[in-house]
Amino acid sequence: MCIRPSEAEGRASFETRGATRRPAPTVIAREALASRAMRVGVVGGGLMGSGIAEVCARCGVDVTLVELDPDRVERANAAIERSLDRAVRSGKLDAEERTAAAERIAYASELEAVEGADVAIEAIIESEDAKRELFRELDAILPEAEFLASNTSSVPIMKLGAETRHPQRVLGLHFFNPVPVLPLVEVVRSIMTSEDTLRRAHDFAENTLGKTTIDSQDRAGFVVNALLIPYLLSAIRMYESGFASKEDIDDGMVKGCAHPMGPLALADLIGLDTLLAVSASLYEEFRDPASVAPPLLNRMVEAGLLGRKSGRGFYEYAK
Ligand code: 3HC
Repeated sequence: MCIRPSEAEGRASFETRGATRRPAPTVIAREALASRAMRVGVVGGGLMGSGIAEVCARCGVDVTLVELDPDRVERANAAIERSLDRAVRSGKLDAEERTAAAERIAYASELEAVEGADVAIEAIIESEDAKRELFRELDAILPEAEFLASNTSSVPIMKLGAETRHPQRVLGLHFFNPVPVLPLVEVVRSIMTSEDTLRRAHDFAENTLGKTTIDSQDRAGFVVNALLIPYLLSAIRMYESGFASKEDIDDGMVKGCAHPMGPLALADLIGLDTLLAVSASLYEEFRDPASVAPPLLNRMVEAGLLGRKSGRGFYEYAK
């Protein structure tokens, strides 16, 4: 979502709806982007990884998108193509830019394909073990990379850094779903992340990708999920107890508080498995009962009702 002059006006009005007003993201000249010749390795081709890859490509960055499950490579490609088409339909990209963005993304199912990348962004499943192993491997494959970032919403960044020989260049870059639409990236420093890494990551998120950043310490949930997840869990408890219907809970927050979507629809968008993983990490860290997953959430995840991505969560979705 590099901000072009024609988009800047609309984005400013979106951003000033919040309590804190930040300047609109920098407008990047296409020539400047071209001279950067940056290459990003994105690992994980799910909702977040494909969104991050798409945003990078739309901002002139060459991307290698690694999806370790070969069956999912095609799915990641199709999701990005669909999203690019949507951007063309809504006038955010012209046909030429769309083609150029699509061509900047190379797809692979071997991690070694990221070799030589300037930056790596991990966006695989929220499994601590899987992420730790991946960071060990990335550290070996990318000894010269500027930084290794995780898009995790639940694993402490320090645990990932500790798997590497260079924990000073490991940090969190936490994007929000849908990545091409939402302007925020949380920049998360562990106690070992260096100032130089932070500076480079801010520069990348703000000046290369045109995102707005906020900083967070390495605490479960970072800033946004620490506030958002207990709210979503409360909505599930409210629905589970029969206090109100799911439609009324969602309508209440959309029409009464001007949220873009209600909490149960948002839980479906995030993915109920992700919501469960984040709530577990919040509870483990803070022991606050507000972060305990309600039984209904556990049962839905066990049943494979994961929200939009599985076609059914609190609501049903066309596949
Ligand atoms: N990919 C790309 N673009 C998308 C998109 C997607 N998945 N979904 C919507 N868009 C674009 C549309 O093209 C449209 O663009 P346009 O205005 O230029 O035409 C714009 O977004 C609005 O889309 P729609 O008109 O189809 O629908 P809505 O107006 O209802 O917006 C929404 C949909 C953008 C999802 C909006 O409801 C929203 O912002 N909801 C809140 C999402 C949110 O809170 N996300 C954060 C989740 S927390 C998280 O990600 C952290 C994790 O760690 C848990």
